[in-house]
Amino acid sequence: MSFVERLVCSKCGTRYEPDENPVMCRRRDLGRLDVVYDYDGISNRFDRKSLEARRSRDIWRYEELLPVSSRFAVRLGEGGTPLVRARRLGEKIGMKNLYLKDDTRNPTASFKDRAMAVGSAKAIELKKTDVATASSGNAAASLAAYSAGAGMSCHAFVPPDASAGKIAQLLLYGASITKCAQVKKGEDATVKAMLDAVDRYGYYPCPSFGPFNPYQVEGPKTIVYELYEQRVSEGFDAILVPTGSGCLLTGIWKGLRDLRELDLIRDYPGIVAVQPTGNQALVGAIRKGASFDRIVPEPYPDSIAGGLLDPYPWDGDAAITGVRETHGGGVSVSDRDILRSVRELAAYEGMFAEPSGAAGLAGLEKMLFQGIIGKDDRVVVLVTGSGLKEPDRIIEMFEGKSVGGAKKPSRDRP
Ligand SMILES: Cc1ncc(COP(=O)(O)O)c(C=O)c1O
Ligand SMILES: [Zn+2]
Repeated sequence: MSFVERLVCSKCGTRYEPDENPVMCRRRDLGRLDVVYDYDGISNRFDRKSLEARRSRDIWRYEELLPVSSRFAVRLGEGGTPLVRARRLGEKIGMKNLYLKDDTRNPTASFKDRAMAVGSAKAIELKKTDVATASSGNAAASLAAYSAGAGMSCHAFVPPDASAGKIAQLLLYGASITKCAQVKKGEDATVKAMLDAVDRYGYYPCPSFGPFNPYQVEGPKTIVYELYEQRVSEGFDAILVPTGSGCLLTGIWKGLRDLRELDLIRDYPGIVAVQPTGNQALVGAIRKGASFDRIVPEPYPDSIAGGLLDPYPWDGDAAITGVRETHGGGVSVSDRDILRSVRELAAYEGMFAEPSGAAGLAGLEKMLFQGIIGKDDRVVVLVTGSGLKEPDRIIEMFEGKSVGGAKKPSRDRP
C-alpha cells in the first residue's frame, strides 16, 4: 500500500499524481519533485511501539515513508547500521556525548545504498532495462550492485580520477563506465554526459540527487528513522553531514520533518553541512545567509574528498532550508583536517572511513574549536563511506605524503 499523495516541483510548484511516475519536472526547470505523503494514513501505524515489533532490519522497515514498494526491491541489507558511542574519540576531543553513525557498513560500503536501493526499486517497478547515473563513484558502485541484482544494465558516468576501489566495484558489478572530464568552468561533466545519454538512449536516470530523479532522495531519510529508534533524535544538538550535492542533507531534513509530522519528535537537532575548502559553495551561501538562487558554484572543485566535489549542489535549495529551519550551520574543512579525521576514526574507534566519509568529524572538530558546538553538546557525526574505497590515500598517509607529512594537499585554503 502506497502512502504517496503527490509529487510537487520544488521550483514551480507543478503537481504530479503518483501514478504518473514522473522523474523530472516537465518544465525542465531543475526543480526536484518532492514526494508528499499522507501522514494521516501513516500515523496510526508508525510509532515507536509498532516499529519495535517489526522484523526487517533494512531500510524497508520504514516502507510507509518510502515512495516505492519493497516488492520491487533488490534487498542487499541496506541500512540498519550501528550507532557507536565514541568514548575514546570523545575523550580525545573533549566531548562526552559523541556518536558515530557508521554507514560504511552498507552492502557496497557507503550510505548511497540507501538512495540507490530506492531508486533501483522504482526502476524495477517501471520495468526499466537500463539505468544511468552521474557520480564520483559511490552512488555508481551502489546502483551497479542493485542493477546486477535486478538484471538491469547500469551506465555509470564518473570523473576521470574516480578511486580504484570504486572503479573495481563498477567493473565487478558489470557496469559500463564512461569517464567524463570537466572542460568548462563550473560544469558538472558527469551530469551533462548522463543527461545526454538519457535523451539519446532512453536510459532511466538514477543519480543520487533530486532534480533528475525524485525517488532515491527519499532513501537517506531512513538514517533519521534509525536514529529515532536508536534513541538519539530527541534532545540532540547537532548532526554533522558530509555534503556534496546536498542529497544526503536533504534526506536528513526530510526525515526529521516526517518524524515531526507524525508527532514523534518535537525539536530538531541542528543540521550542519560540512564541505571541503576546495568546494564550499553551499557552506559559503549558508554563512552569508544567502538564498539558493545566489549560490555561486565552485569553478574547479578540488579536494581529497572525491565524494564531495559536485560543482553544483543539486539539492542545495532543500539543504539550505534544512540548515536554516533546524538552526544548524555550515563549515568548511581543509584536506589536512579531513585526513586527520580519517586517522582518528580508525585509531580511536576502529572505524575505517574514506576522506569524504570522515569529513563530518573534521567539521565537528573545527566547530568545537570555534566554540560553535560545545563540549557538552550531544552530537551525531555521519560516517558515510569506507576507507577500503581509497586504500591508496591511506597508504600515502603512512608514507608521510599527506596528513602531517611534507606534502601539502593541493588546495588547502584557510
Ligand atoms: C562517502 C560520501 N559521503 C558524502 C557524500 C555527499 O553526499 P551528497 O552528494 O548527497 O551531499 C558522498 C557523495 O558522493 C559520498 O560518496
Ligand atoms: Zn517545475
